[in-house]
Amino acid sequence: MRAAEIRDDLTDILVTEEQILHKLDEIAAQVASDYEGKDLLLVGVLKGAVMVMADFSRALPTPVPMDWMAVSSYGAGTKSSGVVQIRKDLDTDLHGKHVLIVEDIIDSGLTLAWLLENFESRGAASIEVFALLRKPDAAKVEVRSKYVGFDIPNDFVVGYGLDYAEKYRNLRDVAVLAPHVYQD
Ligand code: XMP
Ligand code: MG
Repeated sequence: MRAAEIRDDLTDILVTEEQILHKLDEIAAQVASDYEGKDLLLVGVLKGAVMVMADFSRALPTPVPMDWMAVSSYGAGTKSSGVVQIRKDLDTDLHGKHVLIVEDIIDSGLTLAWLLENFESRGAASIEVFALLRKPDAAKVEVRSKYVGFDIPNDFVVGYGLDYAEKYRNLRDVAVLAPHVYQD
């Protein structure tokens, strides 16, 4: 669905599907050149990164392996607890791999900071981060993110993989959820 179809649930539409796909093409070209000749592994963080992984990986010009990690830090609410739990670990041994973590959003940064530290000990040749979205005003810790799609304001957003209570992931655009949706 598009943002226009659920306009009453949203306040601002921040990034459209067209803008996202265009940005993914740009970043894919950059990543392809940065990792030329290297053993690249994409690691997606479930569930939010599913859409960005699907479109980003297909924008790359070469075959590339992907793996998935599931962590939870939010529960059903809209604020980070800072407590990260592994719900599904990687299937891949990171030894010698050039890992690119693919994330939907850097909000407080707590989840990625924790993941980066966790990955450091697994023997990867390098570890970098690509986040489609980033909220600079929400940062509680600095996260070294080499590739960022869009900086957005400090509002709770949904769409393109991002959910509120598991809904709105299938919205094609990224938009600010209207407060009445989570206050009722
Ligand atoms: P942190 O705060 O640790 O973010 O950088 C961790 C995860 O929380 C989710 N997140 C959001 N999900 N709208 C969402 O639907 C948001 O505005 C939002 N901010 C954070 C997201 O999965 C992120 O990886
Ligand atoms: Mg996420």
